[in-house]
Amino acid sequence: MEIIKAKSAGFCFGVKRAVDEVQKQIRDGRKPVYTYGPIIHNEQVVNKLAAQGVRVIRSEEELDQIHEGTIIIRSHGVPERIQKKMESLGVNLVDATCPFVKKIHEIARRTGENGDILIIAGNPNHPEVQGIMGWTKGEVYAVESPEELQNLKIPEGRKAVLVAQTTFDKVKFEDIVEIFARTRYSSYVVNTVCNATDERQTEAREIAQKVDAMVVIGGRHSSNTQKLYHICSEKCANTYFIETLVDLDLKPFQSYSRVGITAGASTPNSIIEEVTEHVRIKL
Ligand code: F3S
Repeated sequence: MEIIKAKSAGFCFGVKRAVDEVQKQIRDGRKPVYTYGPIIHNEQVVNKLAAQGVRVIRSEEELDQIHEGTIIIRSHGVPERIQKKMESLGVNLVDATCPFVKKIHEIARRTGENGDILIIAGNPNHPEVQGIMGWTKGEVYAVESPEELQNLKIPEGRKAVLVAQTTFDKVKFEDIVEIFARTRYSSYVVNTVCNATDERQTEAREIAQKVDAMVVIGGRHSSNTQKLYHICSEKCANTYFIETLVDLDLKPFQSYSRVGITAGASTPNSIIEEVTEHVRIKL
């Protein structure tokens, strides 16, 4: 009887760093403490932080009304214009943008300064992509497929730089790079897909193929958790997608001898531990 818990389950480095920063500011920071957007896509965590006094700023209009306390920028980052606005408010500004995202901001800034075009492989509605777009002064596009890239009308002779949203699908990015390399404008590619997502998926796949049942923990609307569930279901027929322990029917677990557990990037360790403990008791 064995439980195999994925080492990569739960918060990635950047998300953990941002959540830790919120905890630090609750203890030592100037009050009230605000986050610009929910710090992660997990209702339990956001509600718990709200109970500790953390408020979420949901729009630029709300931001304009704030003149005291601490504002934390989450791991996705924000456009330069928003950051400048925050700096002018006289608050204690804490930048918890993931360093890997910061690196893309820097590429975006340089691309604009050189008069080149920035192309981001990513979802244009995602806050990370909107943040990246806001760090270049030049022309910028976000594309989600090779077809969308082909439809861009970029004049010959212009230089274009291609980067990726950190959570973009690696294989899809390679397809886009292939088309990008075939275009007639001068081009430069920086692969900015973060390994955290890839490692989590690879490990989940490996575990799912050697267990009797697999538990995937994460928000129903979290796309990276849905993807994990999909990957695990392909390898293990008894795959369970749960948000918290209450969603898990433990009865069938008596008949399993090996159970795997993984979790999406917004799942706190406390929930993973709680589920692991209860499964352990049942086995
Ligand atoms: Fe950073 Fe990669 Fe996580 S970019 S926020 S460590 S998915």
